[in-house]
Amino acid sequence: MEYEELYRYSIDQKEQFWSEQATKLSWFEQPTNILSQNDAGHYSWFEDGRINMSYLCIDKQIEDGRGEQTAIIYDSPSFNLVQHISYNELYEKVSKFAAGLLNLGVRKNDTVIIYMPMIPQSLIAMLACARIGAIHSVVFGGFAPHELAVRIDDARPKVVISASYGIEFGKKIPYKILVDQALDEAKHQPDYQVYYRREEGFDNLGGPREIDFEAMYLCGSAKSIPVPATHPLYILYTSGTTGKPKGIVRDTGGYATALNFSMEYFYNVQPGNVFWAASDIGWVVGHSYIVYAPLLYGCTTVLYEGKPVRTPDPGAFWRVVEAHKVNVLFTAPTAIRAIKKEDPNGSLLQQYNTSSLKQLFLAGERCDPATFDWIKALLQKPVIDHWWQTESGWAMLGIMTKIDQREAIAGAAGFPVCGFDIKILDEDGNEVPVGAEGNIAVKLPLPPGCLPSLWKNEIRFQKSYFHKYPGYYLSGDGGFRNEDGYYFVMGRIDDVINVSGHRLSTGEMEEIVASHPAVAECAVMGIYCELKGQRPIALVVLKDGTDITEAVLETELIASVREKIGAIASFKNAAIVKRLPKTRSGKILRKTICEIADGKPYSIPSTIDDPVVLDEIAAVLRKRKLGVTFETSNQ
Ligand code: COA
Ligand code: AMP
Repeated sequence: MEYEELYRYSIDQKEQFWSEQATKLSWFEQPTNILSQNDAGHYSWFEDGRINMSYLCIDKQIEDGRGEQTAIIYDSPSFNLVQHISYNELYEKVSKFAAGLLNLGVRKNDTVIIYMPMIPQSLIAMLACARIGAIHSVVFGGFAPHELAVRIDDARPKVVISASYGIEFGKKIPYKILVDQALDEAKHQPDYQVYYRREEGFDNLGGPREIDFEAMYLCGSAKSIPVPATHPLYILYTSGTTGKPKGIVRDTGGYATALNFSMEYFYNVQPGNVFWAASDIGWVVGHSYIVYAPLLYGCTTVLYEGKPVRTPDPGAFWRVVEAHKVNVLFTAPTAIRAIKKEDPNGSLLQQYNTSSLKQLFLAGERCDPATFDWIKALLQKPVIDHWWQTESGWAMLGIMTKIDQREAIAGAAGFPVCGFDIKILDEDGNEVPVGAEGNIAVKLPLPPGCLPSLWKNEIRFQKSYFHKYPGYYLSGDGGFRNEDGYYFVMGRIDDVINVSGHRLSTGEMEEIVASHPAVAECAVMGIYCELKGQRPIALVVLKDGTDITEAVLETELIASVREKIGAIASFKNAAIVKRLPKTRSGKILRKTICEIADGKPYSIPSTIDDPVVLDEIAAVLRKRKLGVTFETSNQ
């Protein structure tokens, strides 16, 4: 079937469609109840099926004759290290590590936090949890101890798994120390902490609750246990509009079905191909396309502990493609912009043989047309932007390359992926005309793979996603559809921003800024950044009688955001203003401030309290050279 036909089938006969896709997997018990709804109206896929993700990713591959095939290629430029791990070797490590977890008392439904760098041991830990029905929650290594503590308190893990250190542009990130700090802050304390010791002689493990990762392999071997399809495979925390992150829950059977489908129809790969998602296991892209999808589909996955630039140069991606004969590369536009900045003519690409590469996929943020055009011209291969979220777990918009021959166009995120009935709605829930911008929503039920709930927070789940438009999932993104049916995702409609492909909450940063003793009120916004897509800035109103210079305040605020969220927030600017622009009802006009900074045309809202404040803000932005409009100005 070609795209149109398959897509219609997936929408009009969804149960039949997904039931056929589910039979492509190996279940302990095949599901008969394909789609069900609970009392609260939320949907579940394959409720009575029983399955195990670790089995699908490892045991099944070996049964199918892939035991000697490389499952993981670990490439770490900082250590000049390349390691190939076969499915057989992965089986041995994962089943032993799973036995180690059982030995520590971890059981089905227990949670385990994994705070680790991009090393094979992280994947082993994830797959071992899945093997015994434990629910993992991977926390991105760039988050500061406070963020880890918040997640520890919410997930209440039995065990925290980490490493002695990570490496970031040659700088050591002392994970063990960061975990210690997080545990000092957290109310919940895990029973055990497991550390992978990366260096000889690291003997900082203290006490019986701190276990050496290698010792976990000494407790026998554990089989995969069948779990219900609806069993949570993982919780992945992502930024919402408040300081408290949302714990996105991922089920097992629906997720496995969706990922398997996506590998064939979306990415158009074959088992045995080399799939490289140059992301991080701390993000959803890493969960879905570094770990689970490539392995359950019998591919070789590349685990790259490096960066697009400075490890050691902007040719790093092309080196990896050549060295490992990568067939599909998936990365974020910010990575391409970083390469473009340091190698504008793409001369390093010419030094490598990238003929193995069939397609480049981009996601994590909108790919701006200039970056799209640059990389497409350089690679001379299809470049496909696709839109998804932590919530969806896989692509909602894009080009299903196996069955759709249409070309990707610059700035567009493509067409609805099978299963996603995408609508662009106005504030009242009516579909907007072609070409008009609106809120992107998905008609329920969402297809398999998407979030069935938020971890232990039904109220927030309901309120965040289903409250505004009953019968639809509210994505939080805005965009439009053009006459040819291409969808364009233009940005968030809430206080979430995207910095280097990392999803962050300005609300959370505002809470940190507002807690400074000199600050009366503040607004944090994401303004345009040529490299990172967006970057946060704060505008601050001081308490009367406060004696602090802007420079001192800025330094202190930068330090607090770095300490609480982490360096990845890229929070580098805070400016003092006399007042903030507000509506008469007191709502701060953050969007208008961003439009001024970004040099976009803006209209002064009719509800504004005092329009003069916008001129004052523009003057401050100009003086501080904040925003593309003012960065190059001489005034
Ligand atoms: N652990 C610890 N610190 C981290 C980190 C990690 N895993 N990742 C980033 N950081 C730190 C960086 O070292 C930097 O610290 P600094 O302010 O002390 O220099 C800070 O967080 C900001 O990092 P980043 O936003 O990544 O900017 P950068 O200038 O260091 O690198 C890129 C820019 C484009 C090279 C980098 O962001 C990148 O590779 N992006 C791709 C992102 C991606 O793949 N996202 C996937 C989503 S699908
Ligand atoms: P995350 O949950 O971290 O994957 O971030 C999801 C958010 O990133 C989305 O809500 C979008 O705002 C943005 N995003 C991801 N992919 C795209 C894309 N291809 N085009 C536009 N925005 C994107």
